[in-house]
Amino acid sequence: MHNSPMHDAAPGLDPVAPADGSAPDAPRTPRYRPVLSFVQRSSRLKDRQQRTWDALAPLYVIEPPRVDAKTSVQPDFRFDPEVAFGRSAPLVVEIGSGQGEAVAHAAEQHPETNFLAVEVYTAGVAQTLQRIRQRELTNIRIVQANAVEVLTTMLPADSVDELWLFFPDPWHKAKHTKRRLVTPAFMDLPARVLRPGGVWRLATDWADYARQMREVIGADERFTADLHAPRFDGRVLTSFERKGLAKDREIADITAVLTAD
Ligand SMILES: C[S@@+](CC[C@H](N)C(=O)[O-])C[C@H]1O[C@@H](n2cnc3c(N)ncnc32)[C@H](O)[C@@H]1O
Repeated sequence: MHNSPMHDAAPGLDPVAPADGSAPDAPRTPRYRPVLSFVQRSSRLKDRQQRTWDALAPLYVIEPPRVDAKTSVQPDFRFDPEVAFGRSAPLVVEIGSGQGEAVAHAAEQHPETNFLAVEVYTAGVAQTLQRIRQRELTNIRIVQANAVEVLTTMLPADSVDELWLFFPDPWHKAKHTKRRLVTPAFMDLPARVLRPGGVWRLATDWADYARQMREVIGADERFTADLHAPRFDGRVLTSFERKGLAKDREIADITAVLTAD
């Protein structure tokens, strides 16, 4: 049984008042205003990054049709891993892959596995492309898109073997915590894309976000969680984690296995 007591909004989305001015309790089709877990940053690249982008993006970057924002994904677009990778293999998806340190390392270590990196930040995608080139990797694809949309519609249901969320933006100010990805409303998304038995791995260096992740994931009966997991040895030390450690922050690892129905 699915236990999600703390929410009634769609994942990552906030209800807003109806545009037609009708009473809030009148029957209506709900409209939603997205609460984003990121802010748009400059998409300008250095010359070298641009050259790498131009050479490699056609091979490695999935370009979904967009709705409006360049990080959006048209809801009717479906990612076909077999077509994108040219083979059938286990699929690992990393949300917020940043500079691509973790995903490039893992792809090099596991040539038998397909990796999809999901990142909104243009310079991060460019850095990931550079790592792909340096290591001559063939088993990574990148999509520059809002992970909420990727998980809601772009990825087929039950298609992902592992989902990674390492050091998501902590949004530490009280007025910003609603931007955090891991909320009760978000839980339908890993539950949708993971195959039964699939693993969701998370890490954070922010104590209050670790507390929130444990509370939210621990309350969801679709998952069997280790809320104080040992460090995942497939996770390399990224520059982001290094900064947290330099500030004496404790790193929390969490794993959650989607239980079979
Ligand atoms: C704090 S960084 C961590 C990066 C990397 N995982 C690491 O450990 O170094 C968080 C990353 O998540 C990305 N991000 C935030 N919200 C996202 C979303 N909804 N979809 C895709 N990427 C997102 C940000 O652009 C940023 O690169």
